[in-house]
Amino acid sequence: MVAGSKRILVTGALGQIGTVLTLELRRRYGDDRVVASDKRSQVPPELVGGPFVPLDVLDRPALEEAIRDQDIGTVYHLAALLSAVGEQHPQLCWRVNVDGLYNVLEIARQHDLRLFCPSSIAVFGPETPREQTPQETILRPTSMYGVTKVTGERLCEYYATRYGVDVRGIRYPGLISSETPPGGGTTDYAVEIFYEAVRCGRYTCFVRADTVLPMMYMPDAIRATLQLMAAPRSELRHHADFNLAALSFSAGELAAEIRKHLPGFECTFVPDYHQAIADSWPCSIDDTAARAEWGWRPEYDLATMTTDMLAKLAERQRRGTL
Ligand code: NAD
Ligand code: SER
Repeated sequence: MVAGSKRILVTGALGQIGTVLTLELRRRYGDDRVVASDKRSQVPPELVGGPFVPLDVLDRPALEEAIRDQDIGTVYHLAALLSAVGEQHPQLCWRVNVDGLYNVLEIARQHDLRLFCPSSIAVFGPETPREQTPQETILRPTSMYGVTKVTGERLCEYYATRYGVDVRGIRYPGLISSETPPGGGTTDYAVEIFYEAVRCGRYTCFVRADTVLPMMYMPDAIRATLQLMAAPRSELRHHADFNLAALSFSAGELAAEIRKHLPGFECTFVPDYHQAIADSWPCSIDDTAARAEWGWRPEYDLATMTTDMLAKLAERQRRGTL
C-alpha cells in the first residue's frame, strides 16, 4: 500500500527478493512510483523501466536526501548481508544489518514513513524448539547474521511502540526463486540445486541430505509481503517479527523431487561450514499469528514449486539467460 500519493523506495533492490518485489510493486502502482536503489549500480534489464538511485544505506545523509527528493512515503528495506557472507564478514554484517536499519528507522521516525523490514528464521538458535517453532520463543542465535536479525526485530519493535512508526516485517524462511540468484545465505543450496540440475544435471550440495529447513517459493513470499503491508494496522498485534511457514523438506527430498522431472539428475552431499548454521535453525515454523492477524496462507507445496521452478529455468535456458 502506498502512503497517500507518495512514492515507494526499495533498498537492496538488486538482490534476490528486491528484483522480484520491485517488479511486482511497479506492476501494481506504476513504474514511476517505485524507486529501486542498491549499493551496486548495475541495473538488470528487467528493472531499467523505472527509476534507480545508487544508495549505500550506511550513508544516512544520502539516504535522507533521496527520500526527500524522491517524495518517498514507504520503504521496503531489503539491503543486508545474509548468513554465510555474514559469517565471513561479521563486522560488516553488523554495520549493514544494524547500523543500516537504524538509519532507515531514524529517517522513518522523522519523515513519518511506512516501513517493511524483513527478519529471518536465523533469529532462532540451537536452544529454540526445532519443530513447529512458536512465535514467542527463545531467540539465542549463534550466527552474526542471526544476532543482527534479533537486534533488528527489537529495534523495529522499539520504534513502533515508542514513536508509533508503522514498521512491519516477516521472519522469512529460505526463499527459492528462478530470477535473481541468492546473495550468500545458508539456504542457497535449495536454489542452486535447481540451476545446476537444469544447466548440467548434477549438483554438489553443501549440507547433509537429511538437513531439513523451512523454505518458501518466491511468489508466496512476495504475496505475503504485500498482504502484510496492506493489512489494517489495528489488526496487528505483532510488528516486524511474524513467523511465516510454507514448506519444510530435507535436501535429499528436494533432490528426489527434482529427479521425478529429470531422472538422470545426480546430487552428492558434501557438508561444509554452512552445516553448522543450518543445524542451529528450526525444521518447521508455527505461523499461527500471521494466519490470525493478516490472513496468511501459502499456495505452493514442494511438488508445485518444483514443477514451476524447472519450467521457468528451462525457459530461461531456451532464451539464453540462465
Ligand atoms: P540479497 O543478498 O540477494 O540482496 C541484498 C542486496 O543488498 C544486494 O543487492 C546488495 O548489493 C545490497 N546491499 C548490501 N549492502 C548494502 C548497503 N550497504 N547499502 C545498500 N545496499 C546494500 O538478499 P535478499 O535475499 O534479497 O534479502 C533481502 C532481505 O530479506 C534481507 O534483510 C535478508 O536478511 C532477508 N531474508 C532473505 C531470505 C532469503 O532466503 N533470501 C530469508 C530470510 C530473510
Ligand atoms: N536464506 C537466508 C540465509 O540463508 C535466511 O535468512 O541466510
